[in-house]
Amino acid sequence: MTTSSRGYVPPPYPYDRLESAKAKASAHGGGAVDLSIGTPCDAPLPAVLHALASSDAERGYPPSIGTEALRSAIGRWIDRRFGLEIPNRLIAACIGTKEFVGTLPQWLKLRSPDRDTVLYPAVAYPTYEMGAILAGCRAVAVRVDANWRLDLASIDAADAARALCLWVNSPSNPTGALDDLGAAAAWGREHGVPVFSDECYCEFTWKGQPRTILEHGAEGVVAVHSLSKRSNLAGVRVGFYVGDFELVDYLREIRKHVGMMVPGPAQAAGVVALDDDEHVVVQRDRYRRRLERTAKILTSWSGIEFTMPDGGFYLWTEVGDGWDVTDRLAAEGGALISPGEFYGTQGSRSVRVAVVQPDDRIELVARRLGVS
Ligand SMILES: Cc1ncc(COP(=O)(O)O)c(C=O)c1O
Repeated sequence: MTTSSRGYVPPPYPYDRLESAKAKASAHGGGAVDLSIGTPCDAPLPAVLHALASSDAERGYPPSIGTEALRSAIGRWIDRRFGLEIPNRLIAACIGTKEFVGTLPQWLKLRSPDRDTVLYPAVAYPTYEMGAILAGCRAVAVRVDANWRLDLASIDAADAARALCLWVNSPSNPTGALDDLGAAAAWGREHGVPVFSDECYCEFTWKGQPRTILEHGAEGVVAVHSLSKRSNLAGVRVGFYVGDFELVDYLREIRKHVGMMVPGPAQAAGVVALDDDEHVVVQRDRYRRRLERTAKILTSWSGIEFTMPDGGFYLWTEVGDGWDVTDRLAAEGGALISPGEFYGTQGSRSVRVAVVQPDDRIELVARRLGVS
C-alpha cells in the first residue's frame, strides 16, 4: 500500500498505464482498435432496452437485495443453466460485480474482526487485491500452477487461519483457465474460510459445460455473477450473489445500510435478460469466432502460438515480455492489448487480448499487420 503525508494514495488505474501504447495505436488511419479493457461492444437484446425504458420503476427506491421478480428470474436462470433449485432467500443483487468484489473485504472484516486476510489468485482480475487494500486488509496472492489454476496446497496455514475469504475465478480473467471449484469449496470448508467464486464468464465456457461452485453445495460458498458480459449490459450494472444463507444474509443486511441498490429500471431489464437464453447463444458464437480469428492473426504476425482459451473472451499467451509485445502490436497493428503484468507479476511474460471489437475492426488489424 502507498501512503503519503496525506494518507493512502491509490495506484494508477491499470489501463491508464497504456497511454504510450495508445498514442502509437491511434497514429494509424482508422484509429486504435481497443482490445484492452473487457468491455462488451455488441448490442443488448431490444426487449431488455424496452424494459429499461418502460419499467415505471424510477420514482421509488429499489430494494437493495433485489426485487422478488429479479431474484426469481435469477433462480430460474440457475435452474436452467445448472439444474439447481435455489430459493430466493439465498439470492441477492449487486450493482454489477466490481463494487461487490471491491467492497466485500470491508464487510467480512466487520463480520470476523479477528481476521484480516484476503486470498486471491496470483494472476487475476486486479479488484480482488484492491478490495483487500481498500479495507486495510492483507492481500495475499495464492500461487497459480502451470495451468493457471489455484495451487491450494501452497497456501500457508497461518494465512488460512487469518483469511476472511478465498477468491476463485472460473473461467478466469485473464487466463481463461477453468479452476477446480469442488476443490476450492472443499478447501474453504476444511479451513473455515468462505469461498467466493466469481463466475461472470461462465456462459462463455468453451471446454465442457458452464460450471458453478454451487454444484458442490451452498455451505460456506457464494457464487458471484453479472449480466455485464452475458447480456452486454456492463453499462446497466446488474450483478448478483448466491449461496450460503448466513453469508448472503449478512452481506445483504449490511449493504442495505450503504445504499447499494441496483436502479429499479435496471432490475426490470435484468429480469428480461435473465429469462432469455437465445441472445446468449448468439453472443457465444460471436466471441468464439472472434477468438479463433484473432488467435490466427496474432499467431501469423508473431510466430508465437495464440490458442483458444477454455473459457472467457480473452486470449492469454506467454510471449516473453508482455510490455514489449503490447508496444509492438500498438505500433504495427494499431491494436491496444494488456500486458500480463496488469494481472499480477506471475503474468508478466504474457499478454491479454480481449476480443471485444466488431469483426471489421479485427480485420483492420489483420490488414495493418499484413496477415490474411
Ligand atoms: C473477473 C471479473 N469479475 C468481475 C468483473 C466486474 O464486472 P461487472 O462489474 O461489470 O459485473 C469483471 C469485469 O471485467 C471481471 O473480469
